[in-house]
Amino acid sequence: MGVDIKERKLEHIKIVVEEDVSHTVTTWFEYIYLVHNSLPEADIDEVDTSTYFLGREFSYPILIDSMTGGVKGTEKINEKFALLADKYNIPISCGSQKAALNDSSVEYTYNIIREVSSDVFLIGNIGAQDLVNDPINTAEKVVEMIEANALAIHLNPLQEVIQRGTVNYKGVINTIEKVVDHLDVPVIVKETGSGISMGVAKILESIGVSAINVSGAGGTSWSAVEAIRNRLRDNRLLSEVGELYRGWGIPTAASLIEVVKSVEIPVISSGGIRSGLDIAKSLIIGATLAGLAAPFIRALYRGGFKELEYLFNKLVFELKLALFLAGIASVKELEKKNIPYIIIGPLREWLIQRGVLSNE
Ligand SMILES: Cc1cc2nc3c(=O)[nH]c(=O)nc-3n(C[C@H](O)[C@H](O)[C@H](O)COP(=O)(O)O)c2cc1C
Repeated sequence: MGVDIKERKLEHIKIVVEEDVSHTVTTWFEYIYLVHNSLPEADIDEVDTSTYFLGREFSYPILIDSMTGGVKGTEKINEKFALLADKYNIPISCGSQKAALNDSSVEYTYNIIREVSSDVFLIGNIGAQDLVNDPINTAEKVVEMIEANALAIHLNPLQEVIQRGTVNYKGVINTIEKVVDHLDVPVIVKETGSGISMGVAKILESIGVSAINVSGAGGTSWSAVEAIRNRLRDNRLLSEVGELYRGWGIPTAASLIEVVKSVEIPVISSGGIRSGLDIAKSLIIGATLAGLAAPFIRALYRGGFKELEYLFNKLVFELKLALFLAGIASVKELEKKNIPYIIIGPLREWLIQRGVLSNE
């Protein structure tokens, strides 16, 4: 018998907060160097972090990435995330709304975000597979439920297999295209920790998707999370296979460079973003926003809103410092300027083999 979706959601949070579920590969941001500028001709306190994404201006290029909702208790988490998003004018994505499609009595766990702020830029979330049977009606319900400003459709083929032992991804491209064609709000397609390749990015752009969230390897591994859940249930096969695949995916820096070089639509860097320096590198490469998931929920469990706010302010300080030291006065300026950065080691090799960099 399958595990109840609500029970699963609580287990996911508990495992992410209490266990080591990191990928066995890193993001590869460590292979990117920004060139230090000893004469920045700028004042660090004046570094302007504001930016545009999908027609809205945000004060910081930081996204609270998709996490939770759908079971009693998660409204408290979403409330704190919403307070942060509202206070600092940043976008927020809620967790998969599948639970509320099956049981409308849990809609309040997502709606709390709208209650905190009618103005916050709220991104809805649903799995691509959950849309296949009735794409347009399902997507419309998800958006209406929370008056979402955009819809994130997540791709998680690896997680699904390690969770259930099987998955069928046939028809997913067509499903996303139908949703894009009929929905009034922009559609973002996101991975969940295994990254997006340039080929997939080109397909998504060609069917009209408005933005891509690469969510690459190097941070939370959903194969690791599901391996732990299977171990607790004595499912030896899925636990062992999940452990093997906890490092599977395209490291976030590699995925981000592949995608920004192959499409024109905005790209979100996520998957293992752990500092303002990672955010600065992402923006200089060409990302519009950087998203974090696990660090935000862990901060909340460690020390409530105060700790969440501390983490956010630390990220902003680290980001400003990196921009200042690279001689950049504003995030918006990055769109016009090509800031030099150095790519070394395995990341360089990857990009040469993928035809993104030349070997000269
Ligand atoms: C507790 C938790 C729950 C998540 N639930 C969802 C979800 O419902 N939908 C989704 O698209 N991604 C979900 N994610 C994936 C994140 O949005 C993100 O893609 C991934 O965790 C990598 O980012 P990180 O390394 O910063 O955690 C979840 C992540 C966490 C930590």
